[in-house]
Amino acid sequence: MQLLTHAAIATMNDETGGYGLIPQASLVVEDDRISWVGPETDLPERYAGASRRDLGGRLVTPGLIDCHTHIVFGGDRSREFEMRLEGAGYEEIARAGGGILSSVRATRDADEASLLKSALRRVDHLIAEGVTTIEVKSGYGLTVADELKMLRVARLIEARREVTVRTTWLAAHALPPEYQGDRASYIRDVVIAGMDAAHAEDLVDAVDGFCEGIAFSRDEMAAIFDHAKTLGLPVKLHAEQLSDLHGAAMAARYGAMSADHLEWLGQDGVDAMAASGTVAVLLPGAFYTLRETQLPPVGALRDAGVPIALATDCNPGTSPLTSLLLAMNMGATLFRLTPAECLAGVTRNAARALGLADRGVIAPGMRADLAIWDVHAPAELTYRIGFNPLHARIFGGDLV
Ligand code: NIG
Ligand code: FE
Repeated sequence: MQLLTHAAIATMNDETGGYGLIPQASLVVEDDRISWVGPETDLPERYAGASRRDLGGRLVTPGLIDCHTHIVFGGDRSREFEMRLEGAGYEEIARAGGGILSSVRATRDADEASLLKSALRRVDHLIAEGVTTIEVKSGYGLTVADELKMLRVARLIEARREVTVRTTWLAAHALPPEYQGDRASYIRDVVIAGMDAAHAEDLVDAVDGFCEGIAFSRDEMAAIFDHAKTLGLPVKLHAEQLSDLHGAAMAARYGAMSADHLEWLGQDGVDAMAASGTVAVLLPGAFYTLRETQLPPVGALRDAGVPIALATDCNPGTSPLTSLLLAMNMGATLFRLTPAECLAGVTRNAARALGLADRGVIAPGMRADLAIWDVHAPAELTYRIGFNPLHARIFGGDLV
C-alpha cells in the first residue's frame, strides 16, 4: 500500500467536463488499484501508516491514453511529405499508388523484429509524456499474414514496455493492388477471413475501417461490422475525414465505441453519435499535416453532449506525430477545445473510446495508471508547445 500526499489531483471524475481538481490531495494505491482519493485532511485513519511519497505539490492526472494510432508500420513517407510541399494532394498521391500503399509495401517487406524496433522508438516518445495506454491498428499489411504480423507486433509492445496496448483490426484501410477490380474478394478473403484468424489468435480487441471515397463505402463497412458483431467485437470507424459519406451515423447504428476524424461530419452524424454514446475522436495531427481547413463540428458535438477524445493518429502519412501533449495543444489552438476538454480527451473520453471502464479517471477501484507533472495548473499541459513536464509515471501501481 502506498500513500501519495502533497499533490494537486485532476481526477477528471467530473460529469460536467471539468478537471475534478482536488488542490491539496492524497491518494492511496493498493496493488494495481486506487483505493482512496480525497483532500489530505480527510484521509481515513486506516491509511495513516502506509508508506508515504511526498509529491511536493505536483499535479497528478490519470495516465494518458492515446486511443487512435497506427504506430506499427514499415518505412516512412518523408518523400510524400516533400511531394505535398510541391503541391500534390493526399488523395492524388493515394490514387497514384503512394500514400497508404507505399507504407503497405514497406510493412510487407519488414519482419516482426524490425517492425517492433521501429514502433518501440515511437512508443517510447509517448510513454515519456505520461502515456499508459495505447491503441494500435493494423492496416498496412492488407494480407491476412501481414495484418496478423502487425497485431503480433502490437501485442509484443505490451510485453516489452510498461503500457497497455489495445489492438484494432483495420484490414479495411485500403484496397491493395492485387485486388484492384475485385473489392468483394478482398473483403471476403482478407478483411473477414483475417478477422476470424486474428480473433482466433486473440490478437484483436476491436474492428475499424476507413470509410472514404479512396477506401471503403458505407455499405461495405456495414457488412464488415455485421461480421465483427458475430464475433462479439466492438467497432469504430475512420469517418468523414475527407468527405461526408454519413459513415459516423452508420457506425453509431452499430453502437460504435468511436467515430474518428469527423471534419466533414454533419448534424445527422452528431445526432446519431449522441444517441448511441459514440465518442468523437478528433485527430488534430492529421488535420494539421494535411493543412485541412474544414473544422470538425466541435460546437455541435459539445451541444449534443457527444464525448470528445483526442489522439495522435500516429501514422507515417497524415500524422507522423508521437506527442499526445502536442495533440492536446493542437486540439485547443486548431479546434478551440478548452484545456479541460483536451485533458478529458486523452483520459476519461479516450478510455471510453476504447471501451475501458477501469481507467481514465482517478477514483477508488480504478487502475492505478497515473502521470505526475511538474506544473502548477492542469491547463499548462495543453498550453505549452514542445515541452514535456512529466515528473514520473505510475503504471498499474508501480512507479516506472
Ligand atoms: O488515420 N485515414 C486513414 N488512415 C490514416 C492515414 C494513413 C496513411 O496515410 O498512411 C489516418 O489518417
Ligand atoms: Fe487513423
